Amino acid sequence: MRFEDREEARLNKWIRQTHRWLSMAFTAAVVVNVIAIAEKKYTNSLGLLAVVPLALQFFTGLYLFVLPCVTRRRARSSSGTAE
Ligand code: HEM
Repeated sequence: MRFEDREEARLNKWIRQTHRWLSMAFTAAVVVNVIAIAEKKYTNSLGLLAVVPLALQFFTGLYLFVLPCVTRRRARSSSGTAE
């Protein structure tokens, strides 16, 4: 495996793990929001607590979404020749 490929694999793993951790933070924030609404203690900053991880999830999620397309296209263009 080339150096750049190894670096890219590390980045991909990091993005996937970040997406996973953000999903837990987002889920916790949604629970906090629901409780706050039920107790009529909702504030805008509590809403932001959920929106910030969700926004970050959107970008890491988009990266994960296009990843298979990029990998497939690259594999096709090198047409299986070992480098
Ligand atoms: C905001 C827009 C989001 C986009 C565009 C998005 C996109 C993706 C994509 C493309 C994958 C990879 C799927 C695969 O490899 O089969 C993924 C994985 C995942 N997503 Fe999202 N996602 C979003 C939001 C969320 C939210 C809101 C949650 C949960 C609260 C979530 C939880 C997860 C989890 C747990 C995984 C699996 C991660 C792993 O491999 O360990 N995502 N997402």
